[in-house]
Amino acid sequence: MENNENGPKRAERTAIASVTTPDLGIDPGECVAPEPTDPCTIVIVGATGDLTARKLIPALFHLYINDGLPKTFQIVGCARTALDDQAFRKKMEVALTDSGIMDQSRWPAFSAALHYQPVNYDDLASYNRLAESLRELDLHHNTGGNRIFYIALPPVLYETVAQMIGQAGLSTEKTGGNGWSRIVVEKPFGIDLATAMDLDRSLHQYFKEHQIFRIDHYLAKETVQNVLMFRFANSLFEPIWNRRYVDHVSITATETLGVEHRAGYYERSGVLRDMFQNHMMQLLALIAMEPPARFEADLVRDEKSKVFGALRPFPVNDLQSSLVLGQYSAGVIDQETVPAYREEPGVDPASLTPTFAMLKVYLDNWRWQGVPFYMTSGKRIARKLTEIAIQFKTVPHALFRHTLGETIVANRLIMGIYPDEKITLTFQTKNPGARVCLRTVTMDFNYQQNYAGPVLDAYEKVLLDCMLGDQMLFWRQDGVERSWSFLTPVLDRCENCDDQQNLLEFYEAGSAGPAAVRRLVENTETI
Ligand code: BG6
Repeated sequence: MENNENGPKRAERTAIASVTTPDLGIDPGECVAPEPTDPCTIVIVGATGDLTARKLIPALFHLYINDGLPKTFQIVGCARTALDDQAFRKKMEVALTDSGIMDQSRWPAFSAALHYQPVNYDDLASYNRLAESLRELDLHHNTGGNRIFYIALPPVLYETVAQMIGQAGLSTEKTGGNGWSRIVVEKPFGIDLATAMDLDRSLHQYFKEHQIFRIDHYLAKETVQNVLMFRFANSLFEPIWNRRYVDHVSITATETLGVEHRAGYYERSGVLRDMFQNHMMQLLALIAMEPPARFEADLVRDEKSKVFGALRPFPVNDLQSSLVLGQYSAGVIDQETVPAYREEPGVDPASLTPTFAMLKVYLDNWRWQGVPFYMTSGKRIARKLTEIAIQFKTVPHALFRHTLGETIVANRLIMGIYPDEKITLTFQTKNPGARVCLRTVTMDFNYQQNYAGPVLDAYEKVLLDCMLGDQMLFWRQDGVERSWSFLTPVLDRCENCDDQQNLLEFYEAGSAGPAAVRRLVENTETI
């Protein structure tokens, strides 16, 4: 809009306008691909599975239609099933249609880049044939020998597949027609410290640390990435982000879903391995870490690792002071009756696997000494909610006590991850009117506000970063080990004690979880 006013009046208006209607001033396209990615081939091992159809191919297609993939790319699906390129393309077409992102005008070109190569996971000859096909593709499509091997298979196969890829000569870089070579694995990285170390040794037999991408899809969530921006790009919050001002922190990730069709995996894992060793620990690290000198993958991961290293050893001899475990019984979710965990297909009818946990943890360091961090996650809870709440302390002196009483509600900052991608800050104001009254009000920022560009789903972001070789949003092995070092004694104690049954409290599906969580919060003395 033309503005013909000059002088102070105009300046004043501009200042006001810039306060009330912030102009983000970013071209949406700029935020998709930060820099041109190298040409490459993405090899999905386990391509007939659920993950490929539901997440990986939709993510790659969505990146493609938003110009997020390199100019030259090929995708090779591998699995045991005997399929040819045409049959694989057909399957993926159905998957894209089902996921609701099919764009028929872009599909023909994308599908021409899709190929299929049958592979027996433990058969070296299969991988030698795969290596041949990849070299052919390089020749015809100028993909430069750059390859990502995405292991979309159950964890028991990680070691075998990584070994086979290595033995077929596909892990070496910049020799024999290879460009760069990267391997992507999803959690769980082992089931305890010892198995995580075994897996790592096995991956490192053929791959170096910079080639290994350990995914945690929580890290790729926009609002999770935003935690560091919020903390370190504003001067306002960091000075109060410590034990002097923070009373406690709550990190919550509850969901309405039950175990679904994953009983085989979940029975051995339970909520502590499924959610805490990875996602919850990452949220804790982002909230608690010190600012790194630069926003670089290793410097950020150094700081996170220090957080895991500062975790106070869990009181394994007095678990109930700091831990609540639960398992869902039958109940109603979204007006539908749902079965108990023990009645789910594939679950042992006497299972003691926890589907809910609340942990109270402390960090023994200068910044956080004495501040409890409550971490809560559970399945079949009344609503899906992922958020981090920073509860500040109450004011030191209640100067309104004659009119308002002693209690003044303390400030609270909530970083919403799901369903609201939102930051809210509550504070006290005077209620309008003649009588002196306070009211709690909320200032909020919606993450998508003033943004009209494409939104990248977590898998799109991790695939893109993997193509760029950027490890920022992936676990580094030292972090994995420190996280397991903390949790393994807790798991050992929970799983091997005589009173395992007594540790587990049943909660109705659709409820807020076990009643015992109140005990944990109420019994906490803060500094
Ligand atoms: C996965 C767990 O890693 O995260 C699942 O294996 C869980 O059990 C899921 O449901 C939760 O992820 P999100 O993104 O829906 O919060």
